Amino acid sequence: MVRHLTDTKDFSKEEIEELFEKAKEFLDEKSRDLLKSKLVINIFFENSTRTRSSFEVAAKRLGAEVVSLDVATSSSTKGETLYDTAANLDMMGPDAIVVRHKNAGVPKILSKYVKSSIVNGGDGAYAHPTQALLDLFTLKQAFGNVSGKTVAIVGDIKNSRVANSNIELLPRFGIKLILVAPPHFLPNYPEIETSNSLEEIVDRVDGIMSLRTQTERHKEAIYGSLSDYSVNYKVTKKLIGDRDIKILHPGPVHRNIDIADDVLDDERSLVLDQVKNGVAVRMAVLDKLING
Ligand code: CP
Repeated sequence: MVRHLTDTKDFSKEEIEELFEKAKEFLDEKSRDLLKSKLVINIFFENSTRTRSSFEVAAKRLGAEVVSLDVATSSSTKGETLYDTAANLDMMGPDAIVVRHKNAGVPKILSKYVKSSIVNGGDGAYAHPTQALLDLFTLKQAFGNVSGKTVAIVGDIKNSRVANSNIELLPRFGIKLILVAPPHFLPNYPEIETSNSLEEIVDRVDGIMSLRTQTERHKEAIYGSLSDYSVNYKVTKKLIGDRDIKILHPGPVHRNIDIADDVLDDERSLVLDQVKNGVAVRMAVLDKLING
């Protein structure tokens, strides 16, 4: 049976633990031939730096051939539907298609029509499963046992697929979440603690996952400028003091809006570790989906 990864619920806790054991081996950055003669196609209908290149590096490091469709010059600009684009690419015999789209649900829909494994590289504000997996992997790397740890997710949570996937995944591993945002950025999760103030919760957290303000998903401008938002939600040295709080961010970071420069440079920042871990986790995901 062809397996897909459209959201974090597609993998059980046990499967994720197994995936992480594999990912640990892949941190050595050595080339392997686990996906020799396999083909991975990337179709990113939204911009990406990390996810697209991370999947490309991951597939190549496992020996796969990779084709990354340049959507801007593809026939989708001539009116071809998303379904036809995917169906045509599927007939070229890929083993996996990694897709990013601005509309929630696109990877799930495509998974019903293609023969290859669909991997969600981010769909609208719904899900970004490999990001949440690499976030959890990074937290486990930092803490060992994550059960009982408290992580604050801070920022434009309502519009964030990263937050949505982490909200599904992290509590499954015993992590308590606090959602911190101005009221208009808070989603409705009655079972999760919320706060409008970073200062109010800073003494109770082991980690802070800062998020970018997703202005491209706002119907109208909410703040006059991002600086207005940053007054209350920027992670600064003054805020965290000498507390042992790990700082995460999925990227792209709005420097000095989401996180201050000196916090990004601080040894408590795991932001670049997340990127390195992302390749290893995506190698493990591709290996699992394609090889079983
Ligand atoms: N974290 C993340 O999804 O980054 P990109 O948008 O650059 O892929």
